[in-house]
Amino acid sequence: MSPPEESLEKGVAREAWITRMGFIFAVWGSMTGLGNVWNWPYRVSSLGGGPFVIIYVIMLALVGIPVVLTEFVLGSTTRRGFPGALKRINKNGEFLGWFCLCNAAVLTAFYCVIIGWAVIYAGYAAVPGLVLDGPMGPALFTDQPFFFVNLLFSPLLLVGLVIVWIIIFVIDYFGTRGIERAVMLFFPILWIIIIGMAIWAFMLPGASAGLNFYLNPDPTQFLNTEMWSTAVSLSFFKLSAGMGILTAYASYLPRKGELTNSAITTSLLDTTFAFTAGLAIFPIAAFAGLLLAPPGASTVAFAFIAWPGVMIFPGGNILGVIFFIMMVFLGITSAVSLVEAIVTAVIDKFGWPRSRTVIVVVLLIFGMGLPFVNWIEAPGLAGATDVTWGLFLLDVVDYYVEFYGLVIVGLFLMLIMGWVYGGGKIVDDANESGDFKLPGWYKWFIKIVAPIGIIIALSFIVLNNFILGTASVGAGFNPGIYGAGTGYEFIIPGLWIVILVVAAFILWRLKGVD
Ligand code: PHE
Repeated sequence: MSPPEESLEKGVAREAWITRMGFIFAVWGSMTGLGNVWNWPYRVSSLGGGPFVIIYVIMLALVGIPVVLTEFVLGSTTRRGFPGALKRINKNGEFLGWFCLCNAAVLTAFYCVIIGWAVIYAGYAAVPGLVLDGPMGPALFTDQPFFFVNLLFSPLLLVGLVIVWIIIFVIDYFGTRGIERAVMLFFPILWIIIIGMAIWAFMLPGASAGLNFYLNPDPTQFLNTEMWSTAVSLSFFKLSAGMGILTAYASYLPRKGELTNSAITTSLLDTTFAFTAGLAIFPIAAFAGLLLAPPGASTVAFAFIAWPGVMIFPGGNILGVIFFIMMVFLGITSAVSLVEAIVTAVIDKFGWPRSRTVIVVVLLIFGMGLPFVNWIEAPGLAGATDVTWGLFLLDVVDYYVEFYGLVIVGLFLMLIMGWVYGGGKIVDDANESGDFKLPGWYKWFIKIVAPIGIIIALSFIVLNNFILGTASVGAGFNPGIYGAGTGYEFIIPGLWIVILVVAAFILWRLKGVD
């Protein structure tokens, strides 16, 4: 049984988006992040190209969009952040809410480190001739991969991280107003840049080899289980689902506003952007001879090695500045959304003023990011000499946060919402406003199809990781991937799960005002 609507909404004075477009832009800004130029091309390439794109779109329809819609309904009916909203559905639901936000906070902590790399790259691209010294010797930003390795071993990483957090703080301090303004400004700029880059990339020698690789379906790949599981985890990452963000953003809607329409529009916009980014990135990768990411290669190869490596022609540095500033914009509107999801949850629970909450949350996640900028060499990891502790941790933790954390949260969310709140009620809530009405049978998508899709994906992830050891993405348990056999493949995920559960438990049990 679910509580009546009035008690769900009672006594809430919340911020609100100025316009519905503001909401859509903000959600898009959250979804469309570094994932488009970092995870998406890397996953597509390491899994063999075209079929992955098709599988991604199928899983988007079967799993991704139902999850987005469910998070929207949860936020707009309860008008609370994720933990408070789930608490209204079931009293233990709050634990899941905090678990989700803690996992997403870890994600944001290392995500901002990567935005910090982009800040430093933009700076070096802007000053032609500026060299970065390090273990690989003096390197210009186009001297790849030497520049990248030098950066990993440099305290400049911390400088980048601090700059990123200052920008996030300023935007989030002003709440929905700040976010809405920032995203409205970034939206057209980002599209113009990515389309322009795709057109430029088409004209490069070797462009057709890159496009062939990206789009040519090889039907045998449809039988690769890893494709299907990666499509699900990547869709969660890309759609900012399983992070509590969509619920927080929907809780700022003045009243139920075209939820179905918004879920479809934002998800498709995000996928289109990623697809366009692929059109730009693969021809360039082909041109740079980097088409096939070897198993175990880190996710950074495309954005931070292939791109700058080809910008050696006259004026290339200007393109570098544009590309890396684009990455900074992309990343910041995503990071801000997660900070906002946590800020809202803390304000709901503890009734703190916004300013104090933003300061505490920003400092906390900034601090959590420090291990990921550790520039000391980590010796003996699969014989690699150019790996720092920071990059090693980042790669491994990224894997668990994405492949397990987001997907597990998504599964429980769908089970609670589909079966405790009611799949039928979700469809009714979504249909309450807006011209686009879902048919009644759509409730089975929420109750059955999406959860089963997630369960199958999780089973494939576990199978490929622990039983077959054949996963080609991610670090950890698989032979040939750095960290395997050193003991860290147990210590790091072990610590990750213990810390998340303990932190979520404490936050859940603390006495609040809500
Ligand atoms: N959707 C984002 C992306 O594609 C991921 C993300 C969202 C990361 C929110 C951090 C916070 O990059």
